[in-house]
Amino acid sequence: MKLKTLSRREFLRSGTALGVTAYATKASGFDRITAASRSVMDRSPEEVANDEFFWREIQLGFKLDRTLINLNNGFTCPTPRVVLEAVWRYMDIINMLPVHYQRRVQENIQTIRRRMAAQFGCEPEELALTRGASESLQIAQNGIDLEPGDEVITTEQDYPRMLTTWDQRRRRDGIKVTRLQFPVPTTGDDLYQRFENAITPRTKVFHFCHITNLTAQLFPVQRLARLARSKGILTIVDGAHALGHFPFKLRDLECDAYGVSLHKWLLAPIGNGCLYVRKESIPKFWPLQAAPALQNNDVRKFEAIGTHPWAIRAALGEALAFHQAIGAENKAARMRYLTMRYVNALKKYPEFKVLSNISEPPQTWGVCASYIEGIDVRDLARFLMDKYRIIVVPLVGGVPPNSVFDYQALRVSPNVYTTLEEIDTFIMAMEDAIKNGVPTSSPFSRSSADDGAYLV
Ligand SMILES: Cc1ncc(COP(=O)(O)O)c(C=O)c1O
Repeated sequence: MKLKTLSRREFLRSGTALGVTAYATKASGFDRITAASRSVMDRSPEEVANDEFFWREIQLGFKLDRTLINLNNGFTCPTPRVVLEAVWRYMDIINMLPVHYQRRVQENIQTIRRRMAAQFGCEPEELALTRGASESLQIAQNGIDLEPGDEVITTEQDYPRMLTTWDQRRRRDGIKVTRLQFPVPTTGDDLYQRFENAITPRTKVFHFCHITNLTAQLFPVQRLARLARSKGILTIVDGAHALGHFPFKLRDLECDAYGVSLHKWLLAPIGNGCLYVRKESIPKFWPLQAAPALQNNDVRKFEAIGTHPWAIRAALGEALAFHQAIGAENKAARMRYLTMRYVNALKKYPEFKVLSNISEPPQTWGVCASYIEGIDVRDLARFLMDKYRIIVVPLVGGVPPNSVFDYQALRVSPNVYTTLEEIDTFIMAMEDAIKNGVPTSSPFSRSSADDGAYLV
């Protein structure tokens, strides 16, 4: 993969963002991260990916519980120290006199919108700041006018909450929901064909993940969005696992709506998300909470949720600065490096199988699904936790309206603070399981939460 190195100008630009909060940097170690970024600025992301001195500085930017090995960063992540300090700082400020300071912080949020839009490639007027992907996507899913008999095409491997949202619209509004199945891994062409073949004259919406939360299957978003637009169909994309994970520009995707959880790959405090809506599509979506007609064309209508903790949102600026200090390309290359380290070490065992697309050029970065033939993934996950204190997610298909799929896998997702020693412990634990097996639990002793429900 030849990803772009952080150029001097880009570095300085991100440095400008950091400069805004420079007074906080000394205490939090941000100055060390900035120095580390400076030291690798002329090297390719692939070179930076295995520079442990650089990543050590990033790791020190977090207060972690290193007695556990967290390989479930796809669910949610610790926020860096500097971001946590910003939450406290804004909380302190607002709490001095919320009736006054809440409004002051709220006014300044426009700065965050502008910076987020610049980083992720859209206009500020196309970006609403929300509380997470569930909220963002439900604004789009519930906000679109659909008549009884209108059709939505989605997939069996979309996120359960989003599938439940469509199912509720089916029950409430009499729409038809077509759920496409697909093998994993598969190709962009295959996914495109499946959507194209499913279109009918009543199709009004395509809904799919940019990458799934299961095997991280990558979808050809731009091609599907163009196909949809040519037929008057709207495209809603679930970007919960994509934004901040690997680099791309929102406007290049050409979809109508794109929802994200920023507490995942951007490492923002829990309670941050965003909704991108293409400028011309904004009037097509109603907000979840009512807004005046004057705001029909204003992306801020999606943010009107009444009094809520502005400190959480204000600290998003710090999370973005942290992301920029690492560099989006460096981060993606590091995620790929950590994944390929264990995949390459374990592939000599014929029982070890990978369900994510690990070929070059990369389509898999920090989320990868694999399994050991003959071992139930729930038993394997329990073994990894009980014996090695490693947290992973066992993926097991459920029944509608949940995701439905016929494979089992462990989802492993490291992050920027994951050490090589932690990945190597995972390799050792998997080798232990392959060679010696794991204790099995009877299907009757598993809790119902084990079947078809998973922590993601
Ligand atoms: C693919 C996908 N979509 C949506 C969501 C919902 O995100 P949140 O719980 O942050 O709202 C998740 C959460 O894991 C997800 O993985």
